[in-house]
Amino acid sequence: MVGKEMKKIAVIGLGYVGLPLALAFSKQGFETIGIDLDDKKLQVLKEGRSYIKEISDERVKAAISGKRFSSTKDMRRLKEADVIIICVPTPLTADDEPDMTYLIQAGASVRDHLRHNQIVVLESSTYPGTTREVLKPMLEQSGLIAGTDFYLGYSPERVDPGNRSYPLEVIPKVISGITEKCINAVEDVYRTVFQTVVRISSTDAAEMTKLLENTYRFVNISFINEIAQLCTNMGIDVWEVIEVARSKPFGFSAFFPSPGVGGHCIPVDPVYLQWRSKQFGATSSFIAISREINNKMPVYIIERIKEALSRESLSCVKILVVGVAFKANIDDIRESSSIEMIKLLQREGALVSYHDPYVHEITLQGEKLASYRFNEHERCAYDCAIIAVNHDDLPLQQIIDQVPLVYDTRNALKRMSGKAKIIRLGGEIGVSDERSDIADSTR
Ligand SMILES: NC(=O)c1ccc[n+]([C@@H]2O[C@H](COP(=O)([O-])OP(=O)(O)OC[C@H]3O[C@@H](n4cnc5c(N)ncnc54)[C@H](O)[C@@H]3O)[C@@H](O)[C@H]2O)c1
Repeated sequence: MVGKEMKKIAVIGLGYVGLPLALAFSKQGFETIGIDLDDKKLQVLKEGRSYIKEISDERVKAAISGKRFSSTKDMRRLKEADVIIICVPTPLTADDEPDMTYLIQAGASVRDHLRHNQIVVLESSTYPGTTREVLKPMLEQSGLIAGTDFYLGYSPERVDPGNRSYPLEVIPKVISGITEKCINAVEDVYRTVFQTVVRISSTDAAEMTKLLENTYRFVNISFINEIAQLCTNMGIDVWEVIEVARSKPFGFSAFFPSPGVGGHCIPVDPVYLQWRSKQFGATSSFIAISREINNKMPVYIIERIKEALSRESLSCVKILVVGVAFKANIDDIRESSSIEMIKLLQREGALVSYHDPYVHEITLQGEKLASYRFNEHERCAYDCAIIAVNHDDLPLQQIIDQVPLVYDTRNALKRMSGKAKIIRLGGEIGVSDERSDIADSTR
């Protein structure tokens, strides 16, 4: 099937991955059907609005008014589509194993409406073997054969929410198929939207590519967090070291310290790989060590704050966590290390608030917490602030002028000065004489 013969694209799962993808296809002139089970999301879309920060209401409105995009929970509409792309979540179970519930549910919906010559592509991140061992047999329960009656492929999603330098269309798209005919069909689909497509020999290898990319990030971020702790002990500024190391034009990629890895992908995907490798009797020591370092980061930061305050307990200390999204300039709090830090601080008896310009409210153990609003006429009365995320528009000057102790996990305060005692993850900087009273003021 070539581009022009494909008229309708269905995208199952209209989240951070599925919605931008559906809108990208509709922008190319395809009639796109977005399918999701979440009534709230469907309602917002029907009103011509967006629930994802990077997607403007105008983009949704334009797609709807051009009659190129509709959203529904009615799976029967899958029959209309020439192409079906699955973008449902692939989280972990409570036992830290791949949770295939959403994928199996979506696969069952496709199976029930599958017809000849449809192209089915899985985009959810998952362990090598999923498309071939889980999705293919399920779809073939329809009586149709993959590679003969319909086309089946896997194409990992590489979108980087919050990264304005790489819009969806310019990120090279990895594509694969169960057979040669399948990969050719998948290529026809993605060539209509993506500037570059990269073919890989099998769906297993494509699934592994995604896990390699994210595990590489996970291991390196955990590694630099260990180096940051080591530098702190040695009195060396890790941020300066990284800056200088990256002047080497080859053989070094810079990663930066943080309170830990968050999001739906980077902390989750390596666990999929770890789980799968066990089935083949292989070890994955790097992943195990990285998980250990990553999980301990919030505790490490809290211990450093206690040291700075010369306190054994944080009971009744007023702490502001600045940034709860899992990374800069987005509103996604899934697996955010800030949330973990808030829970730990609360357990320590600290009085915790948070500020995040993009996350207006969070719910912790059934209780709602609203983002603290900075007011230029009012002093912010916290004993300590933790800069956990470096969003572009944080009131950093106000924080370092008004809060006596600031723990900066992101080097967001570089070249800034204020009255606060500033501690940086990976090197203590900016201890002010005026603030030698901090430990006492917080008791
Ligand atoms: N968020 C990212 O930046 C990112 C990047 C690369 C890859 N991924 C991967 O893409 C996949 C989707 O991630 P996401 O962040 O878009 O998730 P998400 O939670 O934002 O969106 C998933 C959507 O799927 C819907 N859904 C669940 N089951 C469904 C079903 N049976 N039928 C129809 N809709 C269903 C949910 O209601 C939700 O709206 C995951 O495998 C993830 O690991 C995500």
